[in-house]
Amino acid sequence: MEGVTDWVMRDLLTSLGGIDFCVTEFLRVTDQLLPDSVFEKNCPELKTGSRTRAGTPVFIQLLGGQVAPLAENAARAVELGALGIDLNFGCPAKTVNRHDGGASLLKSTDRIFNIVSAVRTKVPPHIPVTAKIRLGFDHPEACLENAKAITAAGASWLTVHCRTKTDGYKPPAFWEWIPKIRAVTPIEIVTNGEIWNTADFQKCHSIAQTNNYMIGRGAIRDPFIFTKIKNALNPNLEPNEKIPGHLILNFYQASCLHVNDHFAVTRTKGWLKQLSFVQPHIKDMFDEIKILEKPTDFRRHLESYFTN
Ligand SMILES: Cc1cc2nc3c(=O)[nH]c(=O)nc-3n(C[C@H](O)[C@H](O)[C@H](O)COP(=O)(O)O)c2cc1C
Repeated sequence: MEGVTDWVMRDLLTSLGGIDFCVTEFLRVTDQLLPDSVFEKNCPELKTGSRTRAGTPVFIQLLGGQVAPLAENAARAVELGALGIDLNFGCPAKTVNRHDGGASLLKSTDRIFNIVSAVRTKVPPHIPVTAKIRLGFDHPEACLENAKAITAAGASWLTVHCRTKTDGYKPPAFWEWIPKIRAVTPIEIVTNGEIWNTADFQKCHSIAQTNNYMIGRGAIRDPFIFTKIKNALNPNLEPNEKIPGHLILNFYQASCLHVNDHFAVTRTKGWLKQLSFVQPHIKDMFDEIKILEKPTDFRRHLESYFTN
């Protein structure tokens, strides 16, 4: 998720287990080949075999509307070590859509086909090319033709965020479209949208019946969601409950190193806010700390809270 699941957050989440694959924040492609430094900033894991330190593979996600530049950039990302390329046809942001990217392409099945097909051709066959869509721009039925086109273009799998662009992020997610999509394509479908806890997952799985699920916001709110879901499927495993303080301190420190102290304050506050929805002990601390702006004050408070 752009502005949220950067290298530091991916590193932390995958260290807790339960995640089989990660995708970077989207990289916007216009008419140029992006400099190597842009790929390396978006995906520092390129230096470690395109895997997080826990060994989880990371795919680079590209977003744009121009066929040839997307294919060139995908090929370059693979030369730099990417283990897979994911194409974003789901972003609803106005600036992105105005510049011909993300969910605006859902209105044009041919263009989606041309993009996936060109990227597939440019990227070596052993490297997966995957796509992410919403159900449609304003009509959910569009997912069927788009899924067929993505399949015909050679994608390895397809992630479906079960809402239209017009739905934005408003609940519910319409998981009931997934069986209809599975009926028109043989490729693996990854179901996405509104899985916040194990109960949501179980409901979603009973409807979607896929082998794969993608979780976005729910992972920020409860970083143990992946292991909890796997524990629910295998009750012999112990569930993890309270987030250990050292993980939050490590996250802050790593964000300072990754970008800078002010960035680390903003990112850590954003994460603590999400955690506070489900972890009462974090809520009290967040209420005290959210007004602190100076990195030195913020860091001192964080350390005293978690080291006492
Ligand atoms: C702040 C934010 C940034 C996002 N950035 C991306 C992105 O870069 N690429 C992407 O495929 N989806 C992005 N998404 C969408 C999520 O990956 C996911 O599809 C959506 O939030 C629904 O899943 P969830 O209910 O599990 O969060 C973003 C969502 C949010 C809230």
